[in-house]
Amino acid sequence: MQVVKTVVEIRGLRQKLKGTVGFVPTMGYLHEGHLALVKQAKQEDSAVIVSIYVNPTQFGPREDFAAYPRDLDRDIELLRKEGTDIVFVPLDDEIYPREFSSWVDVEKVTERLEGASRPEHFRGVATVVAKLFNIVQPTRAYFGQKDAQQVVVIKRMVADLNMNLEVAVVPTVRESDGLAMSSRNIHLSPKERQAAIILFKALTLAQRLWRSGEKDAEKIRRQMTALIRKEPLAQIDYVSIADAQTLEELNSLDRPAVASLAVRIGKTRLIDDMPLA
Ligand code: PAJ
Repeated sequence: MQVVKTVVEIRGLRQKLKGTVGFVPTMGYLHEGHLALVKQAKQEDSAVIVSIYVNPTQFGPREDFAAYPRDLDRDIELLRKEGTDIVFVPLDDEIYPREFSSWVDVEKVTERLEGASRPEHFRGVATVVAKLFNIVQPTRAYFGQKDAQQVVVIKRMVADLNMNLEVAVVPTVRESDGLAMSSRNIHLSPKERQAAIILFKALTLAQRLWRSGEKDAEKIRRQMTALIRKEPLAQIDYVSIADAQTLEELNSLDRPAVASLAVRIGKTRLIDDMPLA
């Protein structure tokens, strides 16, 4: 496994690879969720490239960029065990040189949900992912269902800008009690960790109602909201039942949908989702 820091180095290595190249962009502090993406790439592609870069432009001014957890040595060891071929760990001025001034702005699907709560977030995500795609030139890029809106945004960008690659989506990996694995879970105190199960409970409630034939999206949102309100440590940011492609809120569950939510547990903001399709 080779660990490289510069665009010149990774381009040189990329040129020598034969067959398909699977690419997994990450911000590091890897857990089983990230590794599921690497495992799938390993199965489907001839070579696997993983990037680790905590992208400053996708964090808002009051967000946790500085506090975002980092452990590069451990990440590299985990990736080595998975049989990763190349790890790209760029420095800030490699990605954003002083004169940097070009951005990728995906409209509409970024206006709601995470986009509404975190203005500029998806501009940072789309820009860094477009840059990484240009640098790595993958055959396939792997993203987690855990960040449902991110998947929609990246698919939109790839289609709109005719990027020559396939976007693969990997199901959310969860702890045994249902909490979606996330680098941010480390910030939860033991009490908060207990309370955080409420996200999964609300999503399974939505799934149960949908499976039993409930078509009224507002009824489902209301029941999810009522359930979460019973948890004193939880504060709802949003609860959504939206069209899986456009992310527009639905009145009636008459097409593929996704239930998603953002909830603050103490100071930690958690997101999760469940496809209803
Ligand atoms: P990060 O949060 O590190 O996540 C990297 C990838 O792992 C994303 O595609 C995310 O959806 C996936 N992932 C995280 N937790 C998961 C889980 N429990 N199950 C399955 N997949 C999971 O997402 C980002 O980084 C950044 O926005 C990035 C795309 C790297 C751009 O900076």
